[in-house]
Amino acid sequence: MPELVPVLSKNDIDSLVTKVAHRISTDYRNHDLILIGVLKGAFVFLSDLVRSLDIPVQIDFIRVFSYGSDMSSSGEIHLKKDIEVDIKDKDVLIVEDIVDTGLTLKYLIDYLRSYHPKTIKVCVFIDKHQRRETDIAIDYSCHDVDKGFLVGYGLDYNENYRYLSGIYHLKL
Ligand code: IMP
Ligand code: MG
Repeated sequence: MPELVPVLSKNDIDSLVTKVAHRISTDYRNHDLILIGVLKGAFVFLSDLVRSLDIPVQIDFIRVFSYGSDMSSSGEIHLKKDIEVDIKDKDVLIVEDIVDTGLTLKYLIDYLRSYHPKTIKVCVFIDKHQRRETDIAIDYSCHDVDKGFLVGYGLDYNENYRYLSGIYHLKL
């Protein structure tokens, strides 16, 4: 049986989201901010985040897929669903559940730049360090871990566990 070891409780998550939302609200006050959530993983974090901000924002989603094993991406990333709002000359914040190698976010930043936004930054719920392969800047991160496969709060393993309100370390 897979084992789920608690990493962050719902209360922990609430206070981390409140903190990052405060930073973002301060940094983007009086800007035209568009949040772009990376499907599917970011849908829970994004929905908490927008309700904790105290500035108006627009919201859109993008979806990519990468071939690879269950627990790591191959680095060969393709677009599956594009954005639908116009981001030209707007401030864009990509909202992602977790950054691991960084290849997905690097692809997304390069891709979204082709629409000529004014600025483009990155907000992740979890920054996982050990396997980073790119030097992308993570502008906002709620929680750092070194390694391990995490599930819950939107994060999945083969589409399971996304619904959990806490974050767990999955041990197979
Ligand atoms: P990267 O391209 O290696 O940075 O991987 C990013 C994507 O891999 C994330 O958007 C997740 O979908 C997935 N991923 C990476 N690490 C984990 C994890 O610990 N749990 C669940 N999904 C993960
Ligand atoms: Mg993801």
